[in-house]
Amino acid sequence: MSQHETYRNKRVVVTGAASGIGRQTTEFLLAAGAKVIAIDRNAPDLKVEQFVSVDFTKPETIDAAAKSIDGEIDVLLNIAGVPGTVDPEIVMRVNVLGLRMLTELLIDRIRRGGSITHVASIAGAQWAAHLDEVQRLLATPDYATGLEWLGDHKMDSKRAYDFSKECVVVMAKQQGKWLRERGVRVNTVSPGPVQTPILKDFRESIGPLLDLVTRETGRNATATDIARVILFLSDPTLEWLNATDVQVDGGFMSGLVGGWVKLG
Ligand SMILES: NC(=O)c1ccc[n+]([C@@H]2O[C@H](COP(=O)([O-])OP(=O)(O)OC[C@H]3O[C@@H](n4cnc5c(N)ncnc54)[C@H](O)[C@@H]3O)[C@@H](O)[C@H]2O)c1
Repeated sequence: MSQHETYRNKRVVVTGAASGIGRQTTEFLLAAGAKVIAIDRNAPDLKVEQFVSVDFTKPETIDAAAKSIDGEIDVLLNIAGVPGTVDPEIVMRVNVLGLRMLTELLIDRIRRGGSITHVASIAGAQWAAHLDEVQRLLATPDYATGLEWLGDHKMDSKRAYDFSKECVVVMAKQQGKWLRERGVRVNTVSPGPVQTPILKDFRESIGPLLDLVTRETGRNATATDIARVILFLSDPTLEWLNATDVQVDGGFMSGLVGGWVKLG
């Protein structure tokens, strides 16, 4: 039995499939015999069932993408994202507003027993401290009103990235109600530093703290480390893992509590 055998013939939508964590996840899914519908601004160099070109900064392309996907799907993996080195509005468009819009457009098409996994980050770990602000953004009903709210609540790129991931973690907790209502589980995976093309951007926006995480845990994650957890959480045979966030960081965040990692 090959790894991830439970995905055989499942229809899986993967955003961010062209690079890094999304590409590795797609490779595993294809090896397991899944039918992958890849969504990205760039075409992946993998033999997927369908590639849909989307720019998450442009809501009309998300709408068109949802229309171009036929029939029902089993799993939605929201992996696409941008780092805190780009314009704060772009960060929020891609990491939160676009992710939410695609998810809401596809939810009625996800079969009972299906799942959704969003990729957040340990950068979003302080969501509880900012819950009011996060809930206010998430209370906006759509992409356009989300943008209006952001226009009134300016933040720099670094804060926009952390805030975007706090929003993703809390969004999944809200969407956890879909298990009861529709039989679809929603969870988040929060990686620490991962060896992908955007790691250099994180080094620029986060600074020495990023190297401290790497030093304290011994290495950066690989895309494989994260893809395996995404596929575990989203596995069609799991039924009761819902609305939770799984930190995949070599134990760094827990080590702060456990006292075996130190901030400086
Ligand atoms: N690499 C890390 O250290 C790290 C750590 C924590 C969380 N993450 C998160 O993991 C996810 C995947 O990141 P990665 O490290 O694989 O990076 P990556 O740059 O290798 O992959 C990101 C993918 O998202 C796509 N994308 C970006 N903007 C887009 C847009 N406007 N429209 C459509 N597609 C777009 C890119 O084309 C790319 O294929 C992101 O959500 C990121 O925030 C990464």
